[in-house]
Amino acid sequence: MKNATNVVAWQTERVELWGLILVGLAHLVHHKKAQAAYGRHIILSPLVRTVPARLAWFLQEMPAFLIPLLLMQLPHKPSTMGKYLLLKTFFLHYFQRTFVYSLLTRGQPFPLGVMVSAGLFCSINGFLQGHYLLHCAQFDDKWSSCFRYNIGLLLFYLGMAINVHSDYILRNLRKPKEIVYKIPTGGLFEYVSGANYLGEIAEWLGYAVATWSLPSISFFIFSFCFLGPRAYYHHRFYQEKFKEYPKSRKALIPFLF
Ligand SMILES: NC(=O)c1ccc[n+]([C@@H]2O[C@H](COP(=O)([O-])OP(=O)(O)OC[C@H]3O[C@@H](n4cnc5c(N)ncnc54)[C@H](OP(=O)(O)O)[C@@H]3O)[C@@H](O)[C@H]2O)c1
Repeated sequence: MKNATNVVAWQTERVELWGLILVGLAHLVHHKKAQAAYGRHIILSPLVRTVPARLAWFLQEMPAFLIPLLLMQLPHKPSTMGKYLLLKTFFLHYFQRTFVYSLLTRGQPFPLGVMVSAGLFCSINGFLQGHYLLHCAQFDDKWSSCFRYNIGLLLFYLGMAINVHSDYILRNLRKPKEIVYKIPTGGLFEYVSGANYLGEIAEWLGYAVATWSLPSISFFIFSFCFLGPRAYYHHRFYQEKFKEYPKSRKALIPFLF
């Protein structure tokens, strides 16, 4: 009976995961209209309510950390390998994003509506990733020694280092309470305008390779479809705003795009 319930639950989640992929692809196709309106793309109007950036990032990212943590406490015995994978990747990322990035950001106030949508996304995604890795995935004993697992983890850590370093560079372009945009330099910003996004995309690709599952691949596709167009629009913003913007710099992929 318990197995039958799990199968039904997993079938439902598969539908949600395909939904995640479709939302990502729809965003990619309609990127001009569907740009998330926050940061430099914010649409200011008296109807748009905003929240301080630190509070917004903290509240919206927290569910992706908290929900898998709660799932770990359930009586349902978690897969040991799934638990390790979750701790080494997803948890680590969302710990950094919730308790470090959020509390240090110098971003401008964040639209309440975008914060609520992002919080909803983080809750659903946190549940899907956590539930799959802890309760559904079946990893054999050799998983941690296979090439795919190790190369995936390596890519994840490399991506996270690029993402954290690039966000650090962006943060330090501003003095406290200053809201201006300057040309970022150093690290991978010498090659692309969206260095933080490149790092984040590499992270989730590495996570997908290491866990080799529908939930992780869906999340990677979603992140790519969301951050790719955003990197393009940031790049265009810099080119329009700064005449001296480096000509050789690309939007997202060094030397190519
Ligand atoms: N996995 C996903 O689907 C996903 C989705 C969204 C975000 N993220 C991650 O969340 C993090 C933040 O994303 P984001 O879209 O807010 O990144 P972003 O637009 O690059 O902004 C990052 C921070 O730096 C500031 N900033 C950016 N460019 C600047 C410049 N040229 N001069 C001065 N300050 C600058 C921004 O201020 P303003 O806010 O005032 O512009 C913001 O506080 C990134 O690491 C990203 O990868 C992930």
